[in-house]
Amino acid sequence: MELSEYLASLNLPDWRYLSETGSTNDLALAWAGEGAADGSLVLADRQTAGRGRAGRHWMTKSGAAIAMSLVLRPAEAELAYIPRFTALATLGLVSALASKGLNAEIKWPNDVLLAGRKVAGVLVEAFWQGENLEALVVGMGVNVSRGALPPAEECRYPATTIEDERGESVDRWEILAGILHSIFTYRTNLTTDAFMAAWNEKLAFKGEQIAFRLANGQAKHAKVLKVQPDGRLALQVEGQTEPFLAAAGEIEMAGRDG
Ligand code: BTN
Repeated sequence: MELSEYLASLNLPDWRYLSETGSTNDLALAWAGEGAADGSLVLADRQTAGRGRAGRHWMTKSGAAIAMSLVLRPAEAELAYIPRFTALATLGLVSALASKGLNAEIKWPNDVLLAGRKVAGVLVEAFWQGENLEALVVGMGVNVSRGALPPAEECRYPATTIEDERGESVDRWEILAGILHSIFTYRTNLTTDAFMAAWNEKLAFKGEQIAFRLANGQAKHAKVLKVQPDGRLALQVEGQTEPFLAAAGEIEMAGRDG
């Protein structure tokens, strides 16, 4: 099936597909400023300046990945739940992968893992007008086919693709449609306890001892407890429960630098 056929079934207000661009998040932020409606989608086959968390680079090779940015305009009732928009995207992918028989997990705050390796990352950025949060751009990059990954020595962490874990190729537009469908479904529950239950059910490293790398480079050894309703990660550090904001740091995965 063609991309346009998959997207037609989702009733998006509008979408744009680029064979090559710098960053779909940049295009979506600009489009949000020009009035893009809630649910407008930007896709690219190849990104030359994709951005990740903490200013990192995210590579998207042609034909092998999903690079998507969804413009969402939070309703009044959603404004108190902004950290949950990252989980919308990760949960959306977890659902889409479950329909392919794959059990994915969410590495707080913004990664999706298959068999303990990163298969996707999410970057949510905000478009402000004065003091008003006008829109969020929910950007996600998914490694679909084997060709999506850079050489192992260039990866900061263990990475994988859907094709590697499934043992056969998948149609990336079918996965994309599954992600979007699940995002829209989960969004109807965004403010509820059920949403947090779904997030925590898929939380990676739950109950496990991990190293939490703070933004200042220091590592804390801790046990992962849960994600709190405010989106902070509760860790047990030296017997005490401490909540951490997404900007505070991240769980370290064994890799080239960790
Ligand atoms: C991360 O793992 O740090 C997040 C990576 C997010 C990458 C996606 S690809 C589509 C969208 N456009 C971007 O420039 N970044 C996000």
